[in-house]
Amino acid sequence: MKALILSGGKGTRLRPITYTRAKQLLPLANKPVLFYAIESILAAGILDIGIIIGDTGQAIQSEIGDGSFWGSNVRITYILQKEPLGLAHAIQTAKSFLGNSAFIMYLGDNIIEENITPFVAAFEQNHDQCNCQIFLKPVSNPREFGIAEVFENSSDCTLYVKKLVEKPQHPDSNMALVGIYLFDASIFHAVDEIYPSQRGELEITDAIQWLIDHRYIVRAYKLQGYWIDTGKMEDILEANRLVLNKLQTNISENTYIDSKSQLQGNIVIQRGAEIRNSVIRGPAIIGEYAHLENTYIGPFTSVYHNVVICNSEIEHSIILEHCSIYDLPFRIENSLIGRNVKIHASSIKPRAYKFMLGDHSDLGLL
Ligand code: G1P
Repeated sequence: MKALILSGGKGTRLRPITYTRAKQLLPLANKPVLFYAIESILAAGILDIGIIIGDTGQAIQSEIGDGSFWGSNVRITYILQKEPLGLAHAIQTAKSFLGNSAFIMYLGDNIIEENITPFVAAFEQNHDQCNCQIFLKPVSNPREFGIAEVFENSSDCTLYVKKLVEKPQHPDSNMALVGIYLFDASIFHAVDEIYPSQRGELEITDAIQWLIDHRYIVRAYKLQGYWIDTGKMEDILEANRLVLNKLQTNISENTYIDSKSQLQGNIVIQRGAEIRNSVIRGPAIIGEYAHLENTYIGPFTSVYHNVVICNSEIEHSIILEHCSIYDLPFRIENSLIGRNVKIHASSIKPRAYKFMLGDHSDLGLL
């Protein structure tokens, strides 16, 4: 079995952050989203991983490398998709990497709670009886996803798929396709038979519908745990919250926490971090060589490496590396702050807000 992770895409809904960073590299609890996909694939015993890259390919390659970070037997192959022409087009592009192998396709910006290992094992053992396995989750906004109509086989309670539609105007169900799919080689016929959708892409949803129409067997499973497609800021913050919720307290050895500081709840403090006269209320994570002083960090906050925060309060937010935040007279909440950002109060007259914001910045003032 092989794996194909899709990590192209421009991440337009996460601008301005994605002008300078691939959306799949945004950290949740200080670990890039893409690492969660890679690690769940490796945990399922798949060591041969192809990563589809696009415009942001260089950044992805330099962060992930050749896979040796996860072990000498892990093999990562980068496959360039020159234009974002759809998920089914990505499979066509990866044909020579995939050969005739069954594979798991994983969208690199999706994150799920459930362990995929039993599904991979069952598909590997049974795939003469099942050509494709999809995962579903009810959503409140079905027009934004691929949507499935399913029926249950009463003898073995297995869910089979009747019909799939990509982003339907008038959805017949609220069961969305999660961005994780298991395929056997029959999908290669399907992706060559379909036509581009209205948005000009070869849709994987249409390719799976082609399988159904040609009497291949497509099974579905309703995920029990959370699923987040981290395409928008609120989704990133929500995914960060869910991942932080599972943290166990871990204070690295070479950190400095003075006696006036208080740590409450589950908190991870990474190496070299320094905390003085501050309150941290978990779940929260403080990155390597971060420096906090006279500061309050509230629940569901990730402070990434080399951040400095003094005389300020932050809650339910993600602060990326090398930011400095000083002397704020108000609390920062529900925020995603990019790398090297400086936010500070200034006593210089005239008293006024002074901004330097990139295109598509989003600023909420009191
Ligand atoms: C893609 C798929 C869609 C699926 C979604 C999951 O949508 O086309 O069927 O529900 O991923 O994240 P896109 O992110 O391309 O809009």
